[in-house]
Amino acid sequence: MTDSKDLEAEIRPLKNDDRKAQENPGSPAPKERGLKPPPPPGLSRCRTAAFFLSLFAFLLAVFVVSFIVPCPDRPASGSTWTISYNAAVAYDFLATGDVNKDRIQDVLFLYKNANGSNGSLSCAEEGFSSPCTFVAAASGANGSILWERPVAQDGALVECAGPQPRGSEASPACILLGRPGPFIAVDLVTGETLWTHPSGFRGNVSILSPLLRVPDVDGDGAPDLLVLTREGKQVHGYIYSGSTGQLVGPPGSLGVDGTSGAVLHITRAGAPYVLLPCVSSLCGSSVKGLYEKATGRVSPLRVDPLWEGMLNATSHQLHLRSLDAVRYVMSVPGKVGEDLLLVTSEDCMLLDGQGLEPRWTLGAAQILRKPVLGHYKPDTLAVAIENGTDTDRQILLLDLSSGAVLWSQALRGLPGGPQPASLPTADHRSAFFFWGLHELAGANQTGPGTALHSLYLLHPTLPSVLLELANVSAHIITSRVVLLEPGRHAACVLLTGPAGPDAPGPVSVVKYKVQDLVPSGRVVHLAKGAPDSDQAVRNRLSRLRYRDAA
Ligand SMILES: *[C@@H]1O[C@H](CO)[C@@H](O)[C@H](O)[C@H]1NC(C)=O
Ligand SMILES: *[C@@H]1O[C@H](CO)[C@@H](O)[C@H](O)[C@H]1NC(C)=O
Ligand SMILES: *[C@@H]1O[C@H](CO)[C@@H](O)[C@H](O)[C@H]1NC(C)=O
Ligand SMILES: *[C@@H]1O[C@H](CO)[C@@H](O)[C@H](O)[C@H]1NC(C)=O
Ligand SMILES: *[C@@H]1O[C@H](CO)[C@@H](O)[C@H](O)[C@H]1NC(C)=O
Ligand SMILES: *[C@@H]1O[C@H](CO)[C@@H](O)[C@H](O)[C@H]1NC(C)=O
Ligand SMILES: *[C@@H]1O[C@H](CO)[C@@H](O)[C@H](O)[C@H]1NC(C)=O
Ligand SMILES: *[C@@H]1O[C@H](CO)[C@@H](O)[C@H](O)[C@H]1NC(C)=O
Repeated sequence: MTDSKDLEAEIRPLKNDDRKAQENPGSPAPKERGLKPPPPPGLSRCRTAAFFLSLFAFLLAVFVVSFIVPCPDRPASGSTWTISYNAAVAYDFLATGDVNKDRIQDVLFLYKNANGSNGSLSCAEEGFSSPCTFVAAASGANGSILWERPVAQDGALVECAGPQPRGSEASPACILLGRPGPFIAVDLVTGETLWTHPSGFRGNVSILSPLLRVPDVDGDGAPDLLVLTREGKQVHGYIYSGSTGQLVGPPGSLGVDGTSGAVLHITRAGAPYVLLPCVSSLCGSSVKGLYEKATGRVSPLRVDPLWEGMLNATSHQLHLRSLDAVRYVMSVPGKVGEDLLLVTSEDCMLLDGQGLEPRWTLGAAQILRKPVLGHYKPDTLAVAIENGTDTDRQILLLDLSSGAVLWSQALRGLPGGPQPASLPTADHRSAFFFWGLHELAGANQTGPGTALHSLYLLHPTLPSVLLELANVSAHIITSRVVLLEPGRHAACVLLTGPAGPDAPGPVSVVKYKVQDLVPSGRVVHLAKGAPDSDQAVRNRLSRLRYRDAA
């Protein structure tokens, strides 16, 4: 089955050509009729025949060009590649983007090689002492390094394909904020510096992830950047121009004791608010308010009168009914505009994105990892959550709009294990990828360093089966399941390395093709008496077609 979008794209040029073809022979006719007497019926029939013949020839030509003449060969990505370093550390960052313009997504990652690096630039040239943190772009097709460069002393926050310079044809950029280190924008294609500035943070601050992209606050035509920091118990927001990287004013306060995991939420009135988990609540501010207080200038952005009433102007807390400690907040698509999915220390709930009334609450849930969205039923969003840890862990798939449990399964897993993932499939559902501790090999192991992690695939059309795709014994820092080539096979990219940044060890970036893992996968039957044989399950799962995430 082909993706419906692809089909449309193929049909459309035909339609347009078709219309043109009909207009052209048709348009001279009325003029001729005005000048000359109507031609004898024989001639007209002849002309009609000629017209249809030429139309037929034309369509045949279109058909030949679009379907029979083969497309120029696209470089197909190899099934597996590995990049490894002997003595390095890696950071929780993996991104994809088309760096070398071969229509295959390439992979970006951060690493620090204890031996120093042999990239074109050395740490010293960028003002760091060796060893320092590099960002590298690896070809998605074969894993060869396309470019790499030093970006920070020790780790960095990264936001790729972020704001682009105003009105430009410029290639996308990655913005990196060193911890510590400067604020740098790097051209995704060449790895060259677009701009660099000192971060401008005072003294002892910790930078809260993530680096947020916000709508254009200063009216220069480019989206801007917001960095949240914590100094003592105060959270501050620093706004940077997205086009030049310049700090636009002194930092604005954002309430007390906030933690990482801020989101940008757009209210129904189109007003952007930054929200972050803070003591027993959710704190926030309008982006306009932050900017105006910091600079004294007027921002073209909006505020939402309802939200201004709900936000305490001094504490920056939202007036919510008593909340337990908030662990995660996510802005999720709702029926109208965005809603908020909130994970607290006790439960998981969906709040209306405008009035913040709870839509549903799943009580008594111990959720230690950020939920992941996907489609369990066609075109209907579901949320995958993990309740509990270790032998008590359960994976639940909930209907996002009602909170109803669609699927649940116990699967051992450790708190530090990798994040689950989902990828849309051609039938408008999603394939879900979960990491678990291997039930046999992992039984007596407790430390995350020694555990055998297994990657499981679930597709909603086979809800009683999990397919164990791979076993990984190295410590997984992060992983992603992505489509490296539009309309082709799913790939799993895995970054493994030492558990902490202090002890260098083997680091590797590995790309697997999911389809190559399926034939050797182990089928785990969840329900007794499932009718399908293992081979039938593998066959069905290897025929899955994936779509690009919309
Ligand atoms: C890198 O480090 C390893 C061990 O730490 C050492 O054996 C190797 O010679 C080093 N390589 C270089 C190029 O310095
Ligand atoms: C760095 O140098 C080592 C040998 O010194 C080589 O094996 C490795 O491929 C080089 N890495 C890059 C990214 O050029
Ligand atoms: C890897 O692929 C790129 C194109 O994507 C090509 O230029 C390069 O030569 C390839 N390298 C190897 C080692 O095959
Ligand atoms: C910086 O803050 C951390 C905790 O936030 C504290 O442990 C450390 O002592 C502080 N350092 C200085 C120099 O104030
Ligand atoms: C806002 O928060 C402060 C400090 O927590 C509190 O004293 C004040 O009463 C709050 N204001 C409103 C209107 O709730
Ligand atoms: C979550 O797990 C706990 C035990 O770890 C259990 O008591 C609770 O019922 C579970 N919640 C849901 C919604 O399944
Ligand atoms: C795990 O440990 C228990 C005792 O601690 C032992 O009986 C069992 O055989 C061990 N299982 C495996 C798979 O090693
Ligand atoms: C993972 O390891 C277990 C135990 O060694 C083995 O039974 C299973 O087949 C392995 N799975 C894969 C996908 O290789």
